[in-house]
Amino acid sequence: MRRFTEDPRFSGIRPFEKKIWLSSPTMHGDEQYWVDDAILTNWVSTVGANINEVEKQVATRIGVKYAVALSCGTAALHLATKLAGEKLYGQARPNQGTLQGHKVFCSDMTFDASINPVAYEDGDAIFIDTERDTWNMDPAALEKAFELYPDVRLIVVAHLYGTPGKIEEIKRIAEAHGALIVEDAAESLGAKYKLNGEWVETGTLGDYNCISFNGNKIITGSAGGMFLTDSEADANKVRKWSTQSREAAPWYQHEEIGYNYRMSNIIAGVVRGQLPYLNGHIAQKKAIYERYKAGLADLPVKMNPFDAEKSQPNFWLSCMIIDEDAMAPMVRGEKDYLYTSVPGKSSPMEILDAMLAFNAEGRPIWKPMHMQPIYRNHAFVTVEGNGRARSNAYIAGSGIDVGADIFRRGLCLPSDNKMTPEQQDAIIDIIHRCFQ
Ligand SMILES: Cc1ncc(COP(=O)(O)O)c(C=O)c1O
Repeated sequence: MRRFTEDPRFSGIRPFEKKIWLSSPTMHGDEQYWVDDAILTNWVSTVGANINEVEKQVATRIGVKYAVALSCGTAALHLATKLAGEKLYGQARPNQGTLQGHKVFCSDMTFDASINPVAYEDGDAIFIDTERDTWNMDPAALEKAFELYPDVRLIVVAHLYGTPGKIEEIKRIAEAHGALIVEDAAESLGAKYKLNGEWVETGTLGDYNCISFNGNKIITGSAGGMFLTDSEADANKVRKWSTQSREAAPWYQHEEIGYNYRMSNIIAGVVRGQLPYLNGHIAQKKAIYERYKAGLADLPVKMNPFDAEKSQPNFWLSCMIIDEDAMAPMVRGEKDYLYTSVPGKSSPMEILDAMLAFNAEGRPIWKPMHMQPIYRNHAFVTVEGNGRARSNAYIAGSGIDVGADIFRRGLCLPSDNKMTPEQQDAIIDIIHRCFQ
């Protein structure tokens, strides 16, 4: 890190006194009131007014009939995926997942919590490459995947960084193949999408929908998540599973496997305090995105894209991608990396290191699932078909792998909504100097 503070390109820049975070919780005070209310009324466990209220408020805001409050987004995704598996393939034995022996098409550029539940349920994730217009699942690659694996009946799709994906196309393809959709809206709470000409919120777009209140999200409960649905039966089932699957008997009676996944009334208090600020946070994040866009316009980089006609992102994270011809050499191993500085060029790791040297936190683009050691032996489908075996000793192949390319050239910028315009300008300045 001393390298940057002593590098003449960065002369005159002083480290931020307080760290600028990628995306940290922003409390407003109301949270304290509702947490105190839970404690003072002694409703501190998994029942209480805060839980009831946040379920009602979120269902109304998002536009679904039922919201089930859970301990985290991952729990919501697990139960959504299990519900889909049970609907498609029936109830599994207690020691087996509902997806055993079945393949599932999954977003590739996402956080692994989106798709790990496929493995929890013993399914076989097949990763679908990413498109360049929104950095989400590519419908053309999904079509190809159905050509290769026509029996698949489940798709898990996420909206990366708060930008809705091409859901209309994905829904059309799913319908044509009789497939269900699990929607992961963990990062996109409050984002809108124009479906068949009407604006609707993410979290309503799949057959089973999930959101997260993790500490880094657009609003937070410190933790927490929700399952969203219009089906009363599905809501009841998730509520039952999340509270250890107790039957209506005087003693502990169980006919199916249960989980301890319910949200606590304390967490719900934090969520309750945050909900009035959702729109405000989105406005702040949008202003951050636009300031980066204007401030970086003279550099050989682009912001993470979205479809302005069909979507209103929540702008959770601002990201940038470096033009190919402005990429300085950079290599990444499994856990380490190397790069060199070249005048007029830079690389994601150089920019991330430079920002960190001055006390600002960015992050590499989420490493695609098909590149993760744990999922490296899983199938990966691009617009060309099988993305794993497209070359031989004599044929180079096209090398199409959009996710790997965005991972290589992109990075997430500090997007904390408490960052001041002046601090953001200083970050923009640091990025400029990386290209000197
Ligand atoms: C896309 C995505 N899905 C799922 C999750 C998991 O949510 P949680 O942390 O609430 O379990 C996260 C983030 O944490 C996420 O970014």
